[in-house]
Amino acid sequence: MFRTHTCGELTQANINEKVTLSGWVSTLRDKGFMMWIDLRDRYGITQIILDEDRSSKELFETARSLGREFVVQVSGTVIERASKNPNIPTGEIEILVDSIKILNESALPPFTIDDNTDGGEDIRMKYRYLDIRRNPVKNKLIFRSKVAQEVRKYLDAQDFVEVETPVLIKSTPEGARDFVVPSRMNPGEFYALPQSPQTFKQLLMIGGLDKYFQIVKCFRDEDLRADRQPEFTQIDCEMSFVEQEDIMNVFEGLAKHLLQTFKGLEFGDFPRMTFADAMRRYGNDKPDIRFGMEFGEITDLAKGKDFKIFDEQELIVGIAAEGLNTYTRKEIDKIIEWVQRPQVGATGLVWVRYNEDGTFKSSVDKFYSQEDLAAWAERMNAKPGDLLLVMSGNTTKVRGQLSALRMEIAERLGLRKSDEFAPLWVVDFPLLEWDEESGRYHAMHHPFTSPKSEDFDKIETAPGEVRANAYDLVLNGNEIGGGSIRIFDKTLQAKMFNLLGFTEEQAEAQFGFLMNAFKYGAPPHGGLAFGFDRFVSILDGSETIRDYIAFPKNNSGRDVMIDAPAAIAPEQMKELFIATTFTGKE
Ligand code: AMO
Repeated sequence: MFRTHTCGELTQANINEKVTLSGWVSTLRDKGFMMWIDLRDRYGITQIILDEDRSSKELFETARSLGREFVVQVSGTVIERASKNPNIPTGEIEILVDSIKILNESALPPFTIDDNTDGGEDIRMKYRYLDIRRNPVKNKLIFRSKVAQEVRKYLDAQDFVEVETPVLIKSTPEGARDFVVPSRMNPGEFYALPQSPQTFKQLLMIGGLDKYFQIVKCFRDEDLRADRQPEFTQIDCEMSFVEQEDIMNVFEGLAKHLLQTFKGLEFGDFPRMTFADAMRRYGNDKPDIRFGMEFGEITDLAKGKDFKIFDEQELIVGIAAEGLNTYTRKEIDKIIEWVQRPQVGATGLVWVRYNEDGTFKSSVDKFYSQEDLAAWAERMNAKPGDLLLVMSGNTTKVRGQLSALRMEIAERLGLRKSDEFAPLWVVDFPLLEWDEESGRYHAMHHPFTSPKSEDFDKIETAPGEVRANAYDLVLNGNEIGGGSIRIFDKTLQAKMFNLLGFTEEQAEAQFGFLMNAFKYGAPPHGGLAFGFDRFVSILDGSETIRDYIAFPKNNSGRDVMIDAPAAIAPEQMKELFIATTFTGKE
């Protein structure tokens, strides 16, 4: 037997017991006449002690041959510690050791395996398995596992069936690029990895399964950010004979259950906001509503006062940064530089200090009177002491830029508190989105989303105005889930493909299987998918999903530990009928 106990469980109650523990050598201290070894496993740390009076010379010799991260098995007696450590559960006891067996040696680890490690991000990613030995990393993975189990329990209790859908499929259009896999048995043909199991879950509804879920890997070849990984996990769900309200209720229930179980928080009905309102009030379809700082539109107030820059713009809009009128010119210039970064892409901004005495001082005093600025301040809900930040431009662009600034200011003001949770449903998304580049409409959610019945008549005349039966669940400014009621009528689905610029032949080639299935009694259905990595990380107070993935990719999509992606051997290329690798310079 390798162990009688773990390294995290012995207390005063075990004093005088003979025990055996196995684990890694965390630290070694040698005072000559006494030695201490901190032995670590997943469950904690237990102090092992040797002393001249009670331990043999041979035992000291073995102990001195140990190094950090050696794997050892020790046996001994639990005794009370002379100097107790109240910070760990095993801090009142130690093990007076009578045997040490080296199970495996270890090379010197490239960074210290400690809660506060000296290892930088890159080295820790390369040696991720060592990083996982550290509490902060390990605990996140354990937390993820607990949430996954709770999700399964909850959905199982509601009669959902967990079904695995295939990974080698044909492209599902979710808006990103596909990862593809060449087929050896079918020369020149490729599988695609699923961006989501969307079409399969719809086929399961046609199959009559009624309630489906899956905790499933999805693959999207898109640019990476803190909240995006090329392979990520969804809690993917679908239900039959439901309307939007039914779906929202069921999955609001799941979200509430997780917030209650893991955060002890009780919520009433989650607030709802239309897409149009979210864009107008926050410039964003996933607003963080933990704080206010709502947009104040002043286009009508600011135009026609000889300030050329504003006169030419479609939208003039600002926010009031609470208490920031104390910012110096230098600090304001820093904000201007911040919005001019290519990631934000603004040309500049106009600022107005709302002084404590009720007067205003602005960068555009030449053009606007105190009364003008007071009217601006009112639109932005500003108070004396605030700093108004105003941007202008094309409506869509400027909203995006001001939204980025709003989040940055909130960060600086400490308004994005990780222990506060503000869920929000965003509803009534547009069905279609105009894409300048391709000169055609794209599905905002995906091509299977049904239009709102009251907007049916606009499909031909004003497709851009048609709203969808689509909804997103937002938590603290992050989209943690999204879904829709699906089209289940063959004719409407064909019309939708047509709107999206597919010829009949293209639609048939890509989605013939689905259109065909729709002929055989497709029930009304709809669903939703949570971004599991995102939900877990936000629940745990973080927005970096990488930390909640055991073996994540870096920002260039590489796994630096296994060094993937990598070239393959010429023979393998040949077998897969791949003639050459383009370098991109052709
Ligand atoms: P959608 O594309 O909105 O919907 O994806 C659902 C949720 O998945 C998460 N997500 C991601 N998480 C990490 N990294 C990524 N690259 C990434 N991309 C998306 C988000 C998002 O809300 N089939 C539909 C769902 C449906 O209609 O039922 C779908 O995939 O949290």
